[in-house]
Amino acid sequence: MDKTLLNQAIENALAIVKENTAVFREEFPLPVTKNGIYPAGINTDWTTGFCTGEYWLAYELTGENCYREAAEIQVNSFAERMKIRENIDHHDMGFLYSPSCVAAYQLTGSEVGKKAALEAADNLMRRFQEKGQFFQAWGELGAPDNYRLIIDCLLNLPLLYWASEQTGNTKYREKAVAHTKTAVQNLVREDYSTYHTYFMNPETGVPEKGVTAQGYKNDSAWARGQAWGVYGMALAYHHTKDEKCLELFRHVTDFFIDYLPEKGVPYWDLVFSDGSSEPWDSSASAIAVCGIYEMAPLLEKEEAEKYLKAADRMLEALIRECAVTKAQPKAGLLNHGVYCKKSPYNTVNDYGVDECNLWGDYFYLEALVRASRNWKPYW
Ligand code: GLY
Repeated sequence: MDKTLLNQAIENALAIVKENTAVFREEFPLPVTKNGIYPAGINTDWTTGFCTGEYWLAYELTGENCYREAAEIQVNSFAERMKIRENIDHHDMGFLYSPSCVAAYQLTGSEVGKKAALEAADNLMRRFQEKGQFFQAWGELGAPDNYRLIIDCLLNLPLLYWASEQTGNTKYREKAVAHTKTAVQNLVREDYSTYHTYFMNPETGVPEKGVTAQGYKNDSAWARGQAWGVYGMALAYHHTKDEKCLELFRHVTDFFIDYLPEKGVPYWDLVFSDGSSEPWDSSASAIAVCGIYEMAPLLEKEEAEKYLKAADRMLEALIRECAVTKAQPKAGLLNHGVYCKKSPYNTVNDYGVDECNLWGDYFYLEALVRASRNWKPYW
């Protein structure tokens, strides 16, 4: 990794995050930018924890109080959100509470953060379905049209490992392990591409079918889903040391790398390749890079070097092709992300196409931090 490029990228990112600490405090950015600028909203979406997470990462990089102060205001908002149960009836408790409240506790000993994160873990536990052994992602619990798990959930599980460590109660960990087993059995295909979602039979728990929501079609590999698989397997291996997770990390990561186009940033679905006019999803790359950096210290030297080389190439491509360089209030960090793009076969509408998004920004900054120092994950 070119150190001058890396240091400049960190400097640019910090300048933007600093601008944002002045404007996003009680208010939060919406999930995606409009022409590179985040509209302001309140703390209701699944993405708000990434804003707070960026502040914590910047605090770790600089030790400057402006980041900590803004993060602490937002941690209070996450405690309140749990108290009033504002849009928390879904599985995204880890996305929300790991980079905000677990980070707060880890970095400052915040009891407010710890309490809110433990409540979030309990809230996630309510979504575990015994029939099928998985956390139901969305919708009313048990509803047949939502009786499914999704690959993104792998990033919600570290909150449960953390909750077991904090409380000494193994129930959180046990359900995380059970969900991971169901996920790897069903979401990973024979060629190691991945399904976005998998339906189970609500009466019997028997796996029924893989279906996409945000990917191009049911049997393609949604780039961000594959990236959640990469980071998800790395974190599962970190927390369990289960050899199956190591083996699958290799395969899903190889698939992701093999389908990267020439410029090193993936299209929003890996079904597209060089020459396509479809947009990239830079956020998928940032997530996968973090997954590889997480896994590298757990691999033998030669294998670690192979994957680190790929991750460095991907991060350099993000810096050169996607990073925003001009600091201004409410700006994003990473251009060329896609929240969702309508296709003839999926169930979404266009939203945040070729824009910055909060998780892309957060994982880009996490990747920069990981590339520059030893870092203790919030996950
Ligand atoms: N976890 C939702 C997404 O990746 O869009």
